[in-house]
Amino acid sequence: MEKKDIDWSNLGFGYHKTDKRYVSNYVNGAWDNGALTDDDTITMSECAGVLQYAQTCFEGLKAYTTEDGRIVTFRPDLNAARMYDSAKRLEMPAFPKERFVEAVEQVVKANAAYVPPYGSGATLYIRPYMFGISPVIGVKPAEDYQFRMFTTPVGPYFKGGAKPITIKVSDFDRAAPNGTGHIKAGLNYAMSLHAIVTAHQEGFDENMYLDPKTRTKVEETGGANFLFVTKDGKVVTPKSGSILPSITRRSLVYVAKEYLGLEAEEREVYFDEVKDFAECGLCGTAAVISPVGKIVDHGKEICFPSGMEEMGEITKKLYETLTGIQMGRIEAPEGWVHEIKL
Ligand code: PLP
Ligand code: COI
Repeated sequence: MEKKDIDWSNLGFGYHKTDKRYVSNYVNGAWDNGALTDDDTITMSECAGVLQYAQTCFEGLKAYTTEDGRIVTFRPDLNAARMYDSAKRLEMPAFPKERFVEAVEQVVKANAAYVPPYGSGATLYIRPYMFGISPVIGVKPAEDYQFRMFTTPVGPYFKGGAKPITIKVSDFDRAAPNGTGHIKAGLNYAMSLHAIVTAHQEGFDENMYLDPKTRTKVEETGGANFLFVTKDGKVVTPKSGSILPSITRRSLVYVAKEYLGLEAEEREVYFDEVKDFAECGLCGTAAVISPVGKIVDHGKEICFPSGMEEMGEITKKLYETLTGIQMGRIEAPEGWVHEIKL
């Protein structure tokens, strides 16, 4: 298979249309068989549930080319499970988990020419999503739904790749106590748009959201969980019922303990503690691990000892081990790497 003529090393995190996408419709109370299509457009009622009341959720995962030339995805079963939970919370019919993984296989295989080559620094981002498509005017769930999955080749989420970023403590909340912060609902991201535009206008790369109830504890950013390293080399990551359970973060906690022999704990993290950490990073599918050099809280700066030039030492070890597993350089735990047979 010949790869597309794309300048892989200079890709940003953007949408680039690929050849095929997967579509399945939920009509009369059942999912149809689903199929790949060339059509990248969607036609729906002006009154569709997604348009009126934002009934939609999504996922994000990546396909990688390994050192020995295979195409693999990373823990797609966990994305299937999280999307199942998101759908349930939004009163949508969940898409069956095994069919989710089959759709990943189909869509990556059909777009294999867009999976960036090993060593290019780029990957194929896979975006599954579903939404209420039938008309809804009283506030209630739609009757019919569409599940889709497209792919797009991407580079680093933050410009500059591994260079540390600067974030601000947001005055806005991303989630509500007992709300939807723990699922991947489109509405959470709509909520964050004003905050991210404001942060960018002020010269910051991202926001740190605090817990919406007390505003004393660290939650997450708009698109990634936090990971901190203490001065004595322990990995700490915030625990909260209103953050997205990041698959990258869960994997990194395992990597820290089982591959690097570090202590790692998931616990509540008070903002007051942050100034005492040695390293800070953002972790997620898109972010991978993006180092944070500085956090600004209403003019007060917290500068991590790791600085603004390089990833912290432990953050770097975590990054190398995780990407090593994903690209087939390091042996993966059972079930983490899902090969796409061409
Ligand atoms: N937190 C938010 C709000 C996200 O959008 C994402 C991205 O999916 C993550 C965390 C990271 O999750 P994952 O590692 O599963 O991609
Ligand atoms: C992902 O990491 O897959 C996400 O969905 C985050 C998003 C902000 C791009």
